[in-house]
Amino acid sequence: MAKKLLMIVAVAGLMSFIWLNAVNSADETQKPNNLQVQIDAVKAAIPKFAVPMREVGDRFQNMYFAAQGGNWGLAAYMSKYMNSAMNPAKLTKPAEYPAWAGFYNNTFAKVNEAITAQDFKSFEKTYSDAINRCNACHGVMGYGFIKVIKQNTASDLGVEYNLKSKATDVPK
Ligand code: HEC
Repeated sequence: MAKKLLMIVAVAGLMSFIWLNAVNSADETQKPNNLQVQIDAVKAAIPKFAVPMREVGDRFQNMYFAAQGGNWGLAAYMSKYMNSAMNPAKLTKPAEYPAWAGFYNNTFAKVNEAITAQDFKSFEKTYSDAINRCNACHGVMGYGFIKVIKQNTASDLGVEYNLKSKATDVPK
C-alpha cells in the first residue's frame, strides 16, 4: 500500500514537473514581444550620454596638447574618436544625438579645419570657442553644473604629444 502511494506521488510529481516546464517554455516562446523585451534590455545596457562624454572630455583635452606639440596626426585622431565615442547615443538617445552631431559637424568643423591646416593660432581660437559651445549644450540639456575648462596638462600622459606628424597621417 505504502509502495503504491509512493508511486502515485512520484508520478504526480513528475507530471507536474513536465507540465510546469511546458507552461514555462510556452511562456518564453509565445510572448509576442519577447524579442522586443530583449532588445530593450540590451539597449538599456548600452551607454547613453554620460559614459561617452567622459571620453569626449579626455580626447578634447588631449587634442589641445597634440596640436600644441605639432603632433597634428594625434590631434586629428583625437577629434575623430571624440566624435565616434558618441555613437552609442545614436541608439540610446535618438532624440538628443542630433544635437551632438550638429555640434560636431558645424561648431567643431572649424577646429577640424585648423587641424587640417596645421594652424595652431587658428586652432587655439576655435578651440576656446568650442569650449563655450560645449558648455552651452550642457546648460540647455539641464547640466549647467558641468562646466568644461581647459586643463593645464593632457588627460592622458602616456603618449608623446611633441612627436611631429601631419594631420593626414591618420589612417582612414
Ligand atoms: C549635445 C549636447 C552636448 C554637447 C555639444 C557636449 N556635451 Fe558634454 N554632456 C552633455 C550631457 C547631456 C552631459 C551629461 C550626461 C548625462 O547625464 O547623460 C554631458 C556631460 C559631460 C561631461 C561629464 C562626463 C562625466 O560623467 O564625467 C564632460 C566632461 C563633458 N560633457 C564634456 C564635453 C566637452 C569637452 C564637450 C565639447 C567638446 C561637450 N561635452 C559637448 C551634452 C553635451
